[in-house]
Parts: sequence; structure tokens; C-alpha cells
Amino acid sequence: MTIEHPEAILCPGGPMLLRGNHAIEDPDGLAHGTTRPVSAVCRCLKSASLPWCDGTHKVLPAELRPS
Ligand code: FES
Repeated sequence: MTIEHPEAILCPGGPMLLRGNHAIEDPDGLAHGTTRPVSAVCRCLKSASLPWCDGTHKVLPAELRPS
């Protein structure tokens, strides 16, 4: 079976992209609902806008980026 539009995509070295409505829990345990058709969830934990990716992963050394 082929999924043409997966709901979650892990970007190597970057965020997880989520399609549709989801609830994301931040490091403090607070739930955040997605509000966009596609949302980028931070996986490096260095974003100033956790739980969302703000692009900070792009300036991290390779060893600190998520795999
Ligand atoms: S994955 Fe983009 S800022 Fe963390």
C-alpha cells in the first residue's frame, strides 16, 4: 500500500513535519494544537519557539542535529 500524503515526515537533521490536526506536547508537558496544514515540530530542542521549529537546527553543528 502506498501512502501519497503521509501525516508525519522526519527531515534528516531537522524537524518533523506533520500534516493535519495534531496535539504536540512541549518539554513542560503543555499541549499545543497544530494550526497549519503542515506544521514543523522541533526535534533538536534548540528552537526558541518550542515545540515548533524556528530554523535554529540549520546553524547547529552536525553532531547536534537530529538524525
Ligand atoms: S528542528 Fe528546527 S529548530 Fe529544532
